[in-house]
Amino acid sequence: MITIAPSLLSSDFADLRNQIRLAEEGGADWIHLDVMDGHFVPNLTIGPPVIASIRKATRLPLDTHLMITNAESFLEHYRDAGADILTVHYEACRHLHRALQRIHELGARAGVSLNPSTPVTVLQDILGDVDMVLLMTVNPGFGGQSFIPRSLDRIRALTAMLRDANPSVLIEVDGGIDATTVHDVVQAGARVLVAGNYIFSAKDIPGAVRTLRSHAMDALQARSTRTA
Ligand code: DX5
Ligand code: ZN
Repeated sequence: MITIAPSLLSSDFADLRNQIRLAEEGGADWIHLDVMDGHFVPNLTIGPPVIASIRKATRLPLDTHLMITNAESFLEHYRDAGADILTVHYEACRHLHRALQRIHELGARAGVSLNPSTPVTVLQDILGDVDMVLLMTVNPGFGGQSFIPRSLDRIRALTAMLRDANPSVLIEVDGGIDATTVHDVVQAGARVLVAGNYIFSAKDIPGAVRTLRSHAMDALQARSTRTA
């Protein structure tokens, strides 16, 4: 019902195996990997070789967020490295439909991501071709930024669109998710929660994953009580 996807962006990159193990201990469902190319976003992170090593360190699905231009040309490399979910940015894909088709051909789950300034309505004609929509709740590029409050309206609008178009599509939120913001995003309709700074800057990493889940479950409960 709720998927917690810790983002390794805020973890200790020299100690990835151990950081992943701690996230797993707290009950993480997926591992979120942020791929940045210095073009689409003003930062650089990891690519296929690091993902291939991470693949050997965990059995959890690798939720791979491609913040790169020309993603179409690299999809196969990321799939070969072990990515299970490949999410491309609407703003960085000239041929979005083709990219999503290719991800499915490669046997991965396909996501599309929107920056905070891109209206959710641009996805209207593509909702039948995706498994997940990743709504950025900060501007992509860096961990540890503050949640943009307007995102809540965007999640609600997308939830309403999906109800008619394709209810099986998951809504993932990414950026500034912590114990204070998680409740509202879940109530608005988000079901996959990415959290970097909140989890990996915590003294107790497994505890942070558990706390996030417990707040998310409370929000779900409140939602179902309200609608019952
Ligand atoms: C930002 C990345 C996020 C980032 C979130 O561009 O997509 O996944 O790690 O970090 P927090 O949870 O610290 O805002
Ligand atoms: Zn991300």
